Amino acid sequence: MGNQFKLRRAEEKDHRAIAELIFHSTNDWYQKHFKKNVFGGDPTTCSVFTEVYEDLDPGCCLIAEDQKNGNIAGSCFFHPRETHLSIGIMNAHPDYFGKGVAKMILDQIINIAFEKNLPVRLVSSAMNLDSFSLYTRRGFVPRMTFQDMILDVPENGLLQKPPEGIKLVRDATIDDIPQIAELEFELNGIKRKGDYEYFVKNDSGYWGVSVFESTSGKIEGFLCSINSNGSKMLGPGIMRDINHAESLIYHELDSRHRGNTPVFLIPVHDGELVKTLYQWGARNCEMHLCQVLGDCPPMNGITMPTFMPETG
Ligand SMILES: CC(C)(COP(=O)(O)OP(=O)(O)OC[C@H]1O[C@@H](n2cnc3c(N)ncnc32)[C@H](O)[C@@H]1OP(=O)(O)O)[C@@H](O)C(=O)NCCC(=O)NCCS
Repeated sequence: MGNQFKLRRAEEKDHRAIAELIFHSTNDWYQKHFKKNVFGGDPTTCSVFTEVYEDLDPGCCLIAEDQKNGNIAGSCFFHPRETHLSIGIMNAHPDYFGKGVAKMILDQIINIAFEKNLPVRLVSSAMNLDSFSLYTRRGFVPRMTFQDMILDVPENGLLQKPPEGIKLVRDATIDDIPQIAELEFELNGIKRKGDYEYFVKNDSGYWGVSVFESTSGKIEGFLCSINSNGSKMLGPGIMRDINHAESLIYHELDSRHRGNTPVFLIPVHDGELVKTLYQWGARNCEMHLCQVLGDCPPMNGITMPTFMPETG
């Protein structure tokens, strides 16, 4: 096995094949197990992963190449940050499922993290035991459970009355970045200031970021969202309490996702928030877990992870 696959860093020339791999691997797995596709359209919808991840962390994608035929058998992105290393989307090609390809890539990424003395974090599906076990067998521990919810946002905007706090929500500016990064560090113990700079600058036009600013000028919560062909999703975001969360979610849905059906991850234990979202018309579509290998600071407030970039 060790000889059949060679691990190497992905290069620009591999990006198209990686987008195809993500598309086929994910859809194939979900077709086999749940008779549904995760990605619609064609494989180019998955080029959003290679684009965004290459912008954020150039060269941080490992691929396993089949030495017999040069095919890419698996790929995974990783994001080294000051406080942790997070793992992006992990895929094995359907022809290679169950042959140890993902394990081989994961072990190499764990080595990279351990050399830097960093814990490893990710969001894995709770409905996909191949993915769940891949991580738990390597010592990852599930730390938080999320319900993935989807909501059809009407073309003319949400029908419900906005929450009281909506008047304290506004779009983020570059000057908010230090407070945004500090809030996440205070509540969740992780830092990733560069990611937020990238979202707020929004060169691609896909991103939105809003903040909840108290009357005394303090940022109490923030929420990012992506609206591209390949991904329509709220997060990452973190809020001190449910009032901040409701107002931020309402704002992102109503101002940036009209006519869309975006997905968002809500901690299962935030029951009141889940109740409000059902009232707005949200439905469950999946379950995810934040898994961590190594030190995991306490997670406070309301945290909304994404798959782009993953953090847990
Ligand atoms: C999830 C996925 C990446 C796994 O890739 P893979 O190359 O088939 O996985 P591996 O062959 O390396 O096996 C992973 C490990 O999980 C173990 N495993 C699988 N199912 C298990 C179960 N039910 N209980 C315990 N262990 C299990 C395997 O035994 C193996 O561990 P080992 O080598 O220590 O025995 C692959 O199924 C895939 O690409 N799925 C579609 C996309 C996806 O869901 N990606 C994850 C999103 S983050």
